[in-house]
Amino acid sequence: MNLDELKRQAAARAVEFVQSGMKLGLGTGSTAKHFVELLGARVRDGLDVIGVPTSEATRDDAIRCGIRLTTLDEIDRLDLTVDGADEVDPSLNLIKGGGGALLREKIVAAASDRMIVIADETKWVETLGRFPLPIEVIPFGLAATRRLIEKAFADCGVSGQIAVRKGRDGHVFVTDGGHWIMDAHLGRISDAPRLAQSLACIPGVVEHGLFIDLASTAMLAGSQGIRVIERR
Ligand code: A5P
Repeated sequence: MNLDELKRQAAARAVEFVQSGMKLGLGTGSTAKHFVELLGARVRDGLDVIGVPTSEATRDDAIRCGIRLTTLDEIDRLDLTVDGADEVDPSLNLIKGGGGALLREKIVAAASDRMIVIADETKWVETLGRFPLPIEVIPFGLAATRRLIEKAFADCGVSGQIAVRKGRDGHVFVTDGGHWIMDAHLGRISDAPRLAQSLACIPGVVEHGLFIDLASTAMLAGSQGIRVIERR
């Protein structure tokens, strides 16, 4: 089975947890896209849900699939968010933002009673950091922000190259919020909660891709089936 089939399997398992009347956060990325498509099929069969998309891409997908949409200005809480991840550790802390949607993804996850992470099993790691950590920044004062990020890294005992993300066209990648992303190649983040707090205090940092204590459940699809892990 290839990775895309595994992603779809994880998404299919998460769809089973959706009930009529739910307000849903709709994640971003190739795995979350499967979830939106499978949810759309259930909506066409009569399931009544409403969703908040975490990116313009997911908004377009959801509309195409016939899923009703709303915003966090119109409703206060979501019952469930289903989203992918770039890395998942045994505490169900995550690295997200490989697709650049980390800011809206974190806002939506934080507004949700439950977050289910869906992924293929290659996303499971003992320690976060192999995947470059995305840090969403304001372009103004970028060099100053970068120095503070490097200081936060040193304080938290990590180091590595930082690169401004480029799009496929070679130009700087711009997020849905109009910001830039710095990808930090850290290798191993021994204390992710501490680094998350340090990065959150830097003025030019809009958000970072460490999702600490947000995921409730992970559904990881592998060749042996789907492993469901609950946060302790
Ligand atoms: C989007 O910004 C990301 O957080 C994605 O959820 C993450 O990169 C996982 O994407 P895939 O499901 O495409 O691997």
